Amino acid sequence: MSKTRLQPTNDFCPQTLYLYGTYDDEGKADFGLFCWFSYLWDEELGVMACIGGSKLTKENIHKRKVFSANLVTEKLLPLADYLGNTPGHNPEKMKLHPEIEAGKVLPVPVLTASPVTYELEVRQFIPLKDGEVMLCRIRSVLQDDLLADGKGSASEKMQAIAPVHTTCRRYFGWDGKDLGAWGEPMRSL
Ligand SMILES: Cc1cc2nc3c(=O)[nH]c(=O)nc-3n(C[C@H](O)[C@H](O)[C@H](O)COP(=O)(O)O)c2cc1C
Repeated sequence: MSKTRLQPTNDFCPQTLYLYGTYDDEGKADFGLFCWFSYLWDEELGVMACIGGSKLTKENIHKRKVFSANLVTEKLLPLADYLGNTPGHNPEKMKLHPEIEAGKVLPVPVLTASPVTYELEVRQFIPLKDGEVMLCRIRSVLQDDLLADGKGSASEKMQAIAPVHTTCRRYFGWDGKDLGAWGEPMRSL
């Protein structure tokens, strides 16, 4: 296969999306959209996440060292797109009031409509020039009963929850359907 050499890009390399939930100083929940999320191994499964620049999610995590990561599905996409394109310092941001519940083991806000949520505790911050990598311990995984009860195949369950992928600044459904450019799905809210 002949290849074209490019500058750094992750186009055509799909990423899974998560909404990170944190609490601010007043105990108000904030959610931001993130895709630089993957796993690590250090005696047990852990998570590594990168946040670039300054944002409310980063400030809140620095103060409390905990956050939730809620899997984004097609049903959640308009909300997720909005939360990824609206800074947390905008006082209007969380006026949409998505349904949230308390984490089971950590003081983090959990999105009720997300079928998989990690409750994460940061073990190590690795500050870079502008971004920051966080190595996290998974303190709990909250799975919708539809997934956790063992009935049905993994394929059927994935089709039922339909996680969203992103690449080329667009969103794609679990079946590969184009769900629009970043900033488009939020217009349906
Ligand atoms: C599809 C998508 C993926 C994103 N992924 C990341 C990411 O992995 N890291 C990051 O620092 N910002 C990411 N962002 C930007 C944040 O979601 C955005 O800055 C958001 O406003 C942060 O919210 P907050 O200010 O409430 O923390 C992403 C935005 C979009 C639309």
